[in-house]
Amino acid sequence: MSTIERALKKQGGKPVDSKLPADNIKQNKPKQNNNYIHIDIDMLAENNMVTNRTERSRINEEYRFIKRKLIINAFGKTSHLLKNPNIILITSTVPNEGKTFTSINLAMSIALEQDKTVLLIDADVVNPSIGHELNYQSTSGLLDYLLGTVDDIGEVIYSTNIDKLKLLPAGSRHHLTHELLTSDRMEKLTTELASRYPDRVIILDSPPLLGVSETQVLASLSGQGIIVVEESKTKTASISEAIKLLDPEMAIGFILNKSNEGKRREKGYNYGYGNYYGL
Ligand SMILES: Nc1ncnc2c1ncn2[C@@H]1O[C@H](COP(=O)(O)OP(=O)(O)O)[C@@H](O)[C@H]1O
Ligand SMILES: [Mg+2]
Repeated sequence: MSTIERALKKQGGKPVDSKLPADNIKQNKPKQNNNYIHIDIDMLAENNMVTNRTERSRINEEYRFIKRKLIINAFGKTSHLLKNPNIILITSTVPNEGKTFTSINLAMSIALEQDKTVLLIDADVVNPSIGHELNYQSTSGLLDYLLGTVDDIGEVIYSTNIDKLKLLPAGSRHHLTHELLTSDRMEKLTTELASRYPDRVIILDSPPLLGVSETQVLASLSGQGIIVVEESKTKTASISEAIKLLDPEMAIGFILNKSNEGKRREKGYNYGYGNYYGL
């Protein structure tokens, strides 16, 4: 049974998008064409991720809390103290602690704000995985633009069925990612992306900090950084080591992910969601 059929069954046959704000979602679009990626909202809901469904969910509430301080840092009175305050780096000490999960949830949550737009960039050039999580085919993106095989960045920025959310995939794999990310072209691109729209938040789903030099390059372009910490797993010494790699001028926060407190055993769901502290 397909996801849509399952959802229809659950709702007693009502159209699947009947609960969704009509102006915020376009259904029946092709999954992916030249400049469009369709995000499967049912799949996000099934994975207990942030969605634009109208009913209150715990994850939506948690990300409301998380995004508030980030938005104030990006657009509030003291935003001028940060370089590129609206660029938010999502990183962790080592892989698999939940960077991509956090990036997608945060992007969805901020895109639901009335007056904000979001560009979610798959900047984990070492292990790009937003495509895997959102179920779109690997496609050209950031690295192709940096290599010059794509001239106009607009060609690799994809609209989605969430009006205020756009995606920039990582693009073709390349062995010189460090050099590409430290290039003038990358510096110009981030400045341009950060300043083109005054209401835009840019989220960089990035590689881990320890042992991956590219992450520091991305951090140097970002005004804010979030370190995703996995409860009972991330080592305190690794966190200290990771923080030392970041610019002290950056606004740094933490998300405690997969917390025991948040476990949803009743749904057979083995992970919890983060408490947020810091910033
Ligand atoms: N809070 C969470 N609740 C449920 N699943 C999670 C949570 N955080 C991460 N995951 C899952 O754990 C796996 C690793 O997370 P991911 O975000 O891909 O890590 P990273 O990007 O840091 O390598 C993925 O399958 C993801 O869906
Ligand atoms: Mg990832």
